[in-house]
Amino acid sequence: MKGFISGLPKVELHLHLEGTLEPELMFALAQRNGVIIPYSSIESLKAAYQFHDLQAFLNLYYQGALVLRTEQDFYDLTYAYLERCKEQHIIHTEVFFDPQFHTRAGVAFDTVASGITRALRDGETNLGISSGLIMCFLRDLSEDDAIETLKQAIAFKDDIVAVGLDSAEQGNPPEKFERVFAMARNTGFKTVAHAGEEGPSEYIWGAIKVLKVDRIDHGVRCTDDPKLVAYLAEHQIPLTVCPLSNVKLNAFEDLSKHNIVELFKQGVLVTINSDDPAYFGGYLNDNYLAVAETFELSKQDVALLSDNGIKASFLSDEKKRVLQ
Ligand code: ADE
Ligand code: ZN
Repeated sequence: MKGFISGLPKVELHLHLEGTLEPELMFALAQRNGVIIPYSSIESLKAAYQFHDLQAFLNLYYQGALVLRTEQDFYDLTYAYLERCKEQHIIHTEVFFDPQFHTRAGVAFDTVASGITRALRDGETNLGISSGLIMCFLRDLSEDDAIETLKQAIAFKDDIVAVGLDSAEQGNPPEKFERVFAMARNTGFKTVAHAGEEGPSEYIWGAIKVLKVDRIDHGVRCTDDPKLVAYLAEHQIPLTVCPLSNVKLNAFEDLSKHNIVELFKQGVLVTINSDDPAYFGGYLNDNYLAVAETFELSKQDVALLSDNGIKASFLSDEKKRVLQ
């Protein structure tokens, strides 16, 4: 199974670039930029990667992202992930970034977006990996802040395929961002939103009905509402599920209790992704393998899951046909 998964051409649809910041690169960038990290060694940093919930993780994730200061830093971060993609046989990836975190830390939007897009272009040319860039709004900030960020993204309209919604979910329902998502759709952006990771199934309904998203990120709490599961299956609304992340952040006690295979068998368009692999201890192949082994999936089922990734992507229908 391990060899089968490694050899399978795969697509990744739920990946935070800031969540690929490996401790080694974090320390190197801290030194390069004179940023102080409150850990004395890579080992002590890694030892802190124990999270009882999403907020505990976000605290470390944002602290780590403070080392990213220059255009070259964002280039290096992105290119290192694309090299991982090559190793993992990921042929297409749609990646998130969190511009509001960086602009609040004093790094210009253009610095962030230029570094990332330059690396994505080089990744396509040098490594043959195609990509899409998704700009996430931080849901714990205001909608006005999101609107300001959307305005800054217009200059990068050719590079940014979609907008998304991430960060602290509980208490920040999708409805808070109705206007900015409507503006984004009217400007021609695709839309996605984290929903039902920790938050209730109502947030998934809100993302679908109010934000009118093309995909739901996570969405695993949908099983609290059978009508929602039936709706997702009927309308083939993709869920970008991140199995190892969900276990690390205690959405499920262990992988055997995860509902991804149950949803798959019910006809929901589920896909497998890695979320923040530097923090959760596994890239895409590790997520596939853990699910395949835990649920004793056949190779055919694994191939169907990887096909779902192609189906759920923002690639053109023509490119999807070539890949499937
Ligand atoms: N930002 C980075 N990873 C995230 C996650 N799993 N959920 C919400 N926001 C995030
Ligand atoms: Zn995520």
